[in-house]
Amino acid sequence: MKDLGLVRKDYSMQQLLETDAHENPFAQLEHWLEDAKKVDPDNYNAMTLSTVDDNGFPNTRVVLLRDLSRRGIVFYTNYQSIKGKEIADNPKIGVNFFWSDLERQVRIRGEARKVDDAVSDAYFATRPRESQIGAWVSEQSMIIASREVLEKRTKEMEARFEGVDVPRPPFWGGYTVFPIYFEFWQGRTGRLHDRLSYRVDADADWYIERLAP
Ligand SMILES: Cc1cc2nc3c(=O)[nH]c(=O)nc-3n(C[C@H](O)[C@H](O)[C@H](O)COP(=O)(O)O)c2cc1C
Repeated sequence: MKDLGLVRKDYSMQQLLETDAHENPFAQLEHWLEDAKKVDPDNYNAMTLSTVDDNGFPNTRVVLLRDLSRRGIVFYTNYQSIKGKEIADNPKIGVNFFWSDLERQVRIRGEARKVDDAVSDAYFATRPRESQIGAWVSEQSMIIASREVLEKRTKEMEARFEGVDVPRPPFWGGYTVFPIYFEFWQGRTGRLHDRLSYRVDADADWYIERLAP
């Protein structure tokens, strides 16, 4: 991989100025998600989620953004997974979106809290049946002996729920991330990128500061 050090890209598509940025970071995120949806409709809601273990080691993985409001952003997962256990011990998380085609990155810091069961139930009911069965099958993040374990358990769960709606497993559901910080990054030419951060104060007002690239 000798050419890794030689890859060069000049970012010149767009700019992010204080005069253009929404006062509210959730509105700004929605605006950028709408743009990303146009160029990458299959992956625009993929975000990297970071948690930390009890030794302070970060863990990162991609999850899908499933809801956005003016208070938080929502994703769904297995509550007993590595991320679920880490969030239970330490709800402080990081989130990152990267939209290569738009030369944009968004960085979020906040705290994750489980959504109400009724919200998880409603979302689970919209998932394809195969995914609903999959949620029962997979003890996410546990070590398994082989792929056959999954195939056998899938057959068992299909038989268990034959002819009935698949209920949401009690160990599966959503988290809302309540952000305390956002940063919007727009690539600019000559490495002089735009970086606008949003911090929230005690009155829940957001204020914008520019960061050096
Ligand atoms: C594009 C993409 C989307 C994903 N979406 C989700 C998701 O919404 N929820 C989820 O639990 N895992 C999702 N995953 C799998 C996670 O990245 C990860 O492998 C899994 O959640 C286990 O993580 P953990 O062991 O750190 O808990 C996705 C992976 C990719 C590549």
